[in-house]
Amino acid sequence: MPSILAFAGSTRRQSFNQAIVNVAAQGAREAGAEVTVINLADYAMPLFNEDEETELGIPERAQAFKELLIRHDGFLIASPEYNSSYPALLKNALDWASRKGETEQVMQAYRGKVAGIMAASSGGLGGLRVLVTLRMLLENMGVLVHPNQKAIAKVHSLIGDDGQINDEKTLTQLKKLGADTAQLCAQVNSK
Ligand SMILES: Cc1cc2nc3c(=O)[nH]c(=O)nc-3n(C[C@H](O)[C@H](O)[C@H](O)COP(=O)(O)O)c2cc1C
Repeated sequence: MPSILAFAGSTRRQSFNQAIVNVAAQGAREAGAEVTVINLADYAMPLFNEDEETELGIPERAQAFKELLIRHDGFLIASPEYNSSYPALLKNALDWASRKGETEQVMQAYRGKVAGIMAASSGGLGGLRVLVTLRMLLENMGVLVHPNQKAIAKVHSLIGDDGQINDEKTLTQLKKLGADTAQLCAQVNSK
């Protein structure tokens, strides 16, 4: 059974991206994966600065986030699109997790891992452009990104009063991405 870590590149309280990654996580669970959903708000970390890293080491919450990545076989990541790319919040967290601890292997958080990526926006493209940059970033760090991906356009019209996705077609598509990612994870791990 693969283990998957699910998170969004937003700490906004009513984050659309946290809402969609919750659904993909459910799809992965239904496909047999063991899924942990986190909120990056619980892993607040300073902006990366190499001098501070040298002097103070890796901050506790950055290390905790990295260890979560290391412990899981794959990731489900939903990212907002900020000016056609990923938010600094997400890049900063991923950068911290790329730093090698004494007892760790190089890029241990990423190499051999699988990811399913998605985006949500109230705009008409659904954050399609961030998926290009996020895929490239993850692949460059050694993550196999599932060829399927999902950009949810006009997401505000698909959300109920409870802040969760309530559109059946969108729920099905997101769950499928979660399930597909879990399956690819299982295949990679069986080799
Ligand atoms: C600095 C900034 C830049 C943005 N740029 C884009 C963009 O390029 N494309 C887009 O579709 N939405 C853009 N947005 C709108 C975000 O997609 C929107 O705020 C979204 O709800 C953020 O995701 P969240 O709900 O998960 O926090 C931008 C928002 C901010 C704050």
